[in-house]
Amino acid sequence: MLRVENLGVRYGSLVALEGVSWQVNAREILGIIGPNGAGKSSCFAAVTNSVPHQGEVYLNGARVTDEPTPRLARLGLRRTFQQNAFFGKLTVLENVIGALLAEHSTPLAFALLAPWVELRVRRRAEAAAADLLERFGIEAAYHDMLPGDIPYGTQRLLSVVLAYGTGAPAVLLDEPAAGIGGDDMKRLASLLTELRDLGTALVVIEHHMDLIMSVADRIVVIDQGRMLATGTPAEVRQNAAVLEAYLGRSE
Ligand SMILES: Nc1ncnc2c1ncn2[C@@H]1O[C@H](COP(=O)(O)OP(=O)(O)OP(=O)(O)O)[C@@H](O)[C@H]1O
Ligand SMILES: [Mg+2]
Repeated sequence: MLRVENLGVRYGSLVALEGVSWQVNAREILGIIGPNGAGKSSCFAAVTNSVPHQGEVYLNGARVTDEPTPRLARLGLRRTFQQNAFFGKLTVLENVIGALLAEHSTPLAFALLAPWVELRVRRRAEAAAADLLERFGIEAAYHDMLPGDIPYGTQRLLSVVLAYGTGAPAVLLDEPAAGIGGDDMKRLASLLTELRDLGTALVVIEHHMDLIMSVADRIVVIDQGRMLATGTPAEVRQNAAVLEAYLGRSE
């Protein structure tokens, strides 16, 4: 579904990423791990063409390296950010309506929120957004609240749901579990496996080892901008270079 070849990112003279290649299939979770500053987020920035970069990106077999970020999103390659990125003054439900409309991105779809649009049509958009939220465990009580006012763990789930929309083929998640624990972590893990089982190709950057080792089918380890190892969670856990560079360090 998504294949990257030889990705490289430079910020001035700093080489943040070099020679990184991986691929992820539909119904698969690829984990990306590595120490702070390793280049993981830069890798997502390169894949989504939001920084100047080297290398190639293929989505469902088509070369999309030069496509602008919004077009990639419409083609079905979506991402979340390390920090939550909501429309803070819109409600949870309105954020979802916005995401659903952006999937289509025709002037007609955007006009759905305009005052002259029939109430009936708007109600339909609201109902679709509410269904999507409830389907992924975000209860009705939160729908009319601002994203910043709902529990933090639920905000992280909301980010994932916004990226997935009605079924993005490829979703990149940058540390979805950042700052959460316990039950929220379990909810997140089941959301990720659910999206995988629905057919999405997921790439998940994560520092929480228990989470990523339990949900990922394969893992890529990045250290100092380069690929250090790749394999199943069990293989990566036993890799000496990985233990040395990452898992052995206290973080
Ligand atoms: N916009 C930028 N301009 C300059 N340097 C940057 C920029 N973004 C990241 N860097 C640098 O590039 C390197 C890789 O950063 P990146 O954010 O990709 O790492 P990361 O693996 O996501 O780290 P973390 O686990 O802390 O999120 C770091 O040295 C970082 O300081
Ligand atoms: Mg990062």
